[in-house]
Amino acid sequence: MAEFDITQIRADFPVLSQKVYNKPLVYFDNGATTQKPRPVIDVVQRYYEKTNSSIHRGVHYLSDQATNEYEAARETVRRFINARESREIVFTSGTTGSLNLLSFSLGEKYISAGDEIIVSEMEHHANIVPWQMLCERKGAILKVIPFDDRGVLQMDMLPGLFTPRTRILSVAHISNTLGTINPIKEIIAMAHTRGVQVVIDAAQSIQHAAIDVQALDADYLVFSGHKIYGPTGIGVVYGKEKLLEELPPYQGGGDMVDVVTFEKTTYNELPYKFEAGTTNYIGAVGMAAALDYLTAIGMDRIAAYEQDLLHYGMQKLEEEGDIRLFGTAPDKASILSFHIGTIHMLDAGMIFDKMGIAVRVGTHCAQPVMQHFGITGTLRASLALYNTREEIDYLCKAIRQIKTMFA
Ligand code: ALA
Repeated sequence: MAEFDITQIRADFPVLSQKVYNKPLVYFDNGATTQKPRPVIDVVQRYYEKTNSSIHRGVHYLSDQATNEYEAARETVRRFINARESREIVFTSGTTGSLNLLSFSLGEKYISAGDEIIVSEMEHHANIVPWQMLCERKGAILKVIPFDDRGVLQMDMLPGLFTPRTRILSVAHISNTLGTINPIKEIIAMAHTRGVQVVIDAAQSIQHAAIDVQALDADYLVFSGHKIYGPTGIGVVYGKEKLLEELPPYQGGGDMVDVVTFEKTTYNELPYKFEAGTTNYIGAVGMAAALDYLTAIGMDRIAAYEQDLLHYGMQKLEEEGDIRLFGTAPDKASILSFHIGTIHMLDAGMIFDKMGIAVRVGTHCAQPVMQHFGITGTLRASLALYNTREEIDYLCKAIRQIKTMFA
């Protein structure tokens, strides 16, 4: 694509052309899940019509085809994040599945009573609770990097959180609630000088900007297919080969085994050691189609377009007046969490809905962020590559209407 052609991009997403309550749909709930472009829908449909068959198991034509497509999808993911080897790409059910896998396997290998794990105050629940469960199992300690009232991580506090017992640091690249882009390269470097392994939760960043795991020197990085315009139920753990080799498997079952006897089972090589059971191979192929779609547009173009939208949105919300924005970090992705005066978020969310605008209302699975601000939730408009300035203008029009109704 020679330039960022928003008309063409919008036409690629069939769901966007519909009306809800007889109003054009304005979809601003992309932090929760993104819509799917035609190439993804077509690939999934074609797969069910022509290719569907269990991978890695059959000797027949369809199984062979399905296996080849699955492994080609793995290679597409490798290329997309610039991993060194495709065996460093493990398919999971999504970010939550990926973080549960890592917390279990890292926990089994490295964590014992008194060891410490660091997360940040702005994590969503999937990057808190699995680590807490691990701490409960092993008697380990969870420590938290705080953020300031702009939603910026207090990096000056981080050195003081490391101790000789720190084993793992797990942090979001981008906050799903505040939009803050965290300095993950710096965090990884700081952790590595102390021998600490780092997990990057890229659930909210993979769709917004190019990620290069080698340039970041990331140990592990996780994300979901459905937040990057792919199908639901598919996700990724990236891990450096030598680190994944060291980890015990997470789930047991078919495909992750080498030889099974009642006395002892040996495990398959990477990445299959972590892919027990019949995986979501159709999801993997659909996700690869989404990555190819984005690559054709260009991640740098997408990032530039979304940054423009973000700044337009922030300016427009400010002009509306009486808007409290949560998350004003200088380095921020296209996520707008806000309150309209003292109007209850559920009341506002209901009016937005009736005007055809889909925003998310609530804690966004990040209750500690709400506790930081002493609030029960926010309205959240999370913008994607297919959103427009006109849609933001319409959001502002809806805000004016809401203010009038609740005056
Ligand atoms: N999926 C959750 C969100 O909407 C975490 O941000």
